[in-house]
Amino acid sequence: MPNANSDHNAQTAPDQATLILGERQFQFPVIEGSEQERAIDISYLRAETGHITLDQGYGNTGSCQSAITFIDGDRGILRYRGIPIEQFADYPHFTEVALLLILGRLPSETELEDFSADLTRYAFLDEGMKHQFEGFPRSAPPMAILSAMINSLSCFHTELHELEDEREFLHTAAHIISKIRTIAAFAFRHSRGLPYIYPDPALRYVQNLLHMMLSQPYHQHVCPDIVRKALNLIFILHADHEQNCSTSTVRMVGSSGANLFASVAAGVCALWGPLHGGANVEVLSMLEQIHEGNLTPEEYVKLAKDKNSKVRLMGFGHRVYKNFDPRAQMLAKVAEELVPKLSGDDPLLEIARRLEDIALTDSYFVERQLYPNVDFYSGIILRAIGIPTNMFTVMFAIGRLPGWIAHWWEQNQTAGTRIARPRQIYTGETRTDYLPMEDRA
Ligand code: ACO
Repeated sequence: MPNANSDHNAQTAPDQATLILGERQFQFPVIEGSEQERAIDISYLRAETGHITLDQGYGNTGSCQSAITFIDGDRGILRYRGIPIEQFADYPHFTEVALLLILGRLPSETELEDFSADLTRYAFLDEGMKHQFEGFPRSAPPMAILSAMINSLSCFHTELHELEDEREFLHTAAHIISKIRTIAAFAFRHSRGLPYIYPDPALRYVQNLLHMMLSQPYHQHVCPDIVRKALNLIFILHADHEQNCSTSTVRMVGSSGANLFASVAAGVCALWGPLHGGANVEVLSMLEQIHEGNLTPEEYVKLAKDKNSKVRLMGFGHRVYKNFDPRAQMLAKVAEELVPKLSGDDPLLEIARRLEDIALTDSYFVERQLYPNVDFYSGIILRAIGIPTNMFTVMFAIGRLPGWIAHWWEQNQTAGTRIARPRQIYTGETRTDYLPMEDRA
């Protein structure tokens, strides 16, 4: 397995791969990306050999070529359209990064202003949608409501199903990026039985979301600058992560020709799972469990190493990062600055630091290259900001939305895109006959 020290890219790249199957040999082209990542193009493998590849979890399978995000998991590198994410720590707003991902380049001042104006214009939901929230039980998981209501948007905006050109696409993207905030906030207000707070056109993206979630009638929530910056950065750091589970889902659904609303709603469902976006909730419940005194950090780590326990150290490990996750490093810094200012000495932050120290020196985690991932510190920050735990994954979805949209459009614009349709190796019964009920044992 390549590790951080192996220099597999320095070898001369062959442009063909040879497969030997019994007596026969087959040649397949090797293709190379702009960062010297290499793939064996097996598009004609089955046609030529009668075989398919089997790769559970797709750990070695490239499903597309993409120009949006580059990750080098061995070196802890993440870049959006070529720009290292560390460069986003001080400068842009989330909306600028969203446009960078969607347009494929940094926007001009006018493009950013127009897009921001669209975000303001489209922030309201059709009043008919408001009534739909009433039909959900108070206890409904916000991720379920989010997915359902994004799908519902496609009922209210049928004119945005077929997109003729980039201009129409950008308007549709602005609709969804703006309205997801309103849906998220209304889902939260509904779960608490609170009156809905309408978007305020005077507020920018992050403040408007917090206003709709946390203001009360006649009492506007004031968002401190430190909170705005932290949430802005959380959204930016979640904005894309190439072919992860939810993004691949969006592409999969989109490959059938499904519209942007339907494809993104499916992405929300994929993100919901505890091994993906739901991990930030699990991290918090792990920290709370330890804080309540049920287990010490040492005991928890021991349990996470025990294969019979089914417990994992949540917020640790990643399919791609076999070194540090650069997003986690940036968020750890934010947590250290922000949490003491907002919540004083937070025992959960102390527990997180302790867990990280233990795991980073434990041979189990070291050998398996398990490092803190983006979810390890994001929950602690969101909690300090005042976001309830059941809204954590919704925050992730708001952040990831521009990435989903960029991938959907890239696929839509790529000539030769085919419907995504993996194959399988069948392991069931061979041909068998139907038995009438009376003949069954
Ligand atoms: N705690 C304990 N052991 C772990 C952990 C963990 N968090 N993560 C992986 N391992 C172990 C596995 O048990 C396995 O051990 P083995 O080789 O002895 O069988 C080995 O490390 C490899 O793990 P896999 O599950 O094969 O790794 P995979 O790439 O399939 O999974 C995943 C990656 C899902 C992120 C995993 O590390 C995990 O479950 N982490 C905890 C959940 C989490 O934090 N998810 C958020 C991911 S980031 C994101 O989606 C934004």
